[in-house]
Amino acid sequence: MTSTLFSMITVLLFCVFAVVEVVESGIGVNWGTVALHKLSPETVVDLLKDNKIEKVKLFDADPDVLKALMGSGIEVMVGIPNEMLSVLSSSASAADLWVSQNVSRYMVKGGVNIKYVAVGNEPFLTSYSGQYQSYVFPALTNLQQSLAKGNLAGMVKLVVPCNADAYESSLPSQGAFRPELTQIMMQIISFLSSNVSPFVVNIYPFLSLYGNSDFPQDYAFFEGTTHPVVDGPNVYYNAYDGNFDTLLAALSKIGYGHIPIVIGEIGWPTDGALGANLSAARLFNKGLVNRVLSNKGTPLRPGVPPMDVYLFSLLDEGAKSVLPGNFERHWGIFSFDGQAKYSLNLGNGLLKNAKDVHYLPSRWCVANPTRDLSAVANHFKLACSFADCTTLNYGGSCNGIGEKGNISYAFNGYYQLQKQNPRTCEFDGLGIVTFRDPSVGDCRFLVGVTDGKSSGFRLNSGRIVSSLIIFWGIFTFVV
Ligand SMILES: *[C@@H]1O[C@H](CO)[C@@H](O)[C@H](O)[C@H]1NC(C)=O
Ligand SMILES: *[C@@H]1O[C@H](CO)[C@@H](O)[C@H](O)[C@H]1NC(C)=O
Ligand SMILES: *[C@@H]1O[C@H](CO)[C@@H](O)[C@H](O)[C@H]1NC(C)=O
Repeated sequence: MTSTLFSMITVLLFCVFAVVEVVESGIGVNWGTVALHKLSPETVVDLLKDNKIEKVKLFDADPDVLKALMGSGIEVMVGIPNEMLSVLSSSASAADLWVSQNVSRYMVKGGVNIKYVAVGNEPFLTSYSGQYQSYVFPALTNLQQSLAKGNLAGMVKLVVPCNADAYESSLPSQGAFRPELTQIMMQIISFLSSNVSPFVVNIYPFLSLYGNSDFPQDYAFFEGTTHPVVDGPNVYYNAYDGNFDTLLAALSKIGYGHIPIVIGEIGWPTDGALGANLSAARLFNKGLVNRVLSNKGTPLRPGVPPMDVYLFSLLDEGAKSVLPGNFERHWGIFSFDGQAKYSLNLGNGLLKNAKDVHYLPSRWCVANPTRDLSAVANHFKLACSFADCTTLNYGGSCNGIGEKGNISYAFNGYYQLQKQNPRTCEFDGLGIVTFRDPSVGDCRFLVGVTDGKSSGFRLNSGRIVSSLIIFWGIFTFVV
């Protein structure tokens, strides 16, 4: 009798410890597809496999992408764009249909390992002025019922990725959700908690640095700082820890200090702004990975790293809105064509390049050196309205290539997008095709890829892009 009781207690204790202790963080990636030159989803899935990346977060439920992920075993978070929240909040049958078309269909033998559904993407972002706010909770409850009907509620968890602008404070221990969000956060987090779902947060020290010239640069990285934040007994040496603990304090305040946390997006861009370059991105991501894999945790949650961390992002996306800044198209750890931008070890060896990428021939379109270019302005504008010219701007890798260089860069971007159609290098005789790579220094003149099924022409201008907008004051830094 006593021994049975004892062993029951042992088993119970073991379970408790198992839940608390066996937290092995996984490093995943965000795979966005707002690209100009698209790699085929199969090439991207091979890239994930070659790099032993076992978790991927998507922003929608693109059937081509999900088909390519079938049988891969890769754990997937599919996403529901904010624009769909309204209908999913008001119609149970729309939720049923979404789940059957975008989840159930793939949850078969040899199908896709869908583990999470992200309901909205940063729906409480300050810049949305609350337009999605009232839809999130009703959409969650409808979708949860749809999952339950399909017997998927145990396997697939609903989450709501939030930007770190949902909470604020000058010191981590004082963290609190924005007053207008407190009520809804209580509702949502209680829902997450009762369904054993994590809280998903996107944290961007780069944006803190970019948006605030007083932000100490070394505090954004993980190498130690001359400006630590002293918060009672706790000392913070980097923005990530400070931000994470600000969230924990905010969660504690509403009674959920123990909910597991997943970092939905975190990363550093490599171009398009002064602080965005290869060495900074490498330094940040390397520090982040070491930090997470060391299981060190933070002062308010020592020894327990986030459940999972999804780097932002896998590939550069040349068609994203530049509203947040020119850096927005340059977040990839790989360039648009799947080439590692810098050496980085995600825990399984250094990054490996994509294989079997089919490039167009080695040809470029440049400004004709024999022509007077005074009438080029409209051509330049047109070319850059289709192609990505963000690297030409201040802080970009091609900012110093001169006026003629600018024109060549724009012409080439357009020509590659048009699959090197010779007529698209005419520009009234101002353009000329060359077989010599015009790249100068770090400024790379790209050659397009051909293995996308879609023409590189979709501009997605109407799509609201994730990871938006600088969050002022998420961490009003106190020096
Ligand atoms: C499934 O997801 C795709 C991609 O996000 C979307 O276009 C489609 O409308 C969804 N299906 C339903 C029934 O909502
Ligand atoms: C790269 O960015 C970091 C800050 O993010 C900056 O300190 C450094 O000077 C930059 N390096 C170059 C070569 O521009
Ligand atoms: C090249 O283009 C960029 C972006 O339009 C501009 O800021 C820069 O001044 C241009 N350079 C020259 C030399 O015209």
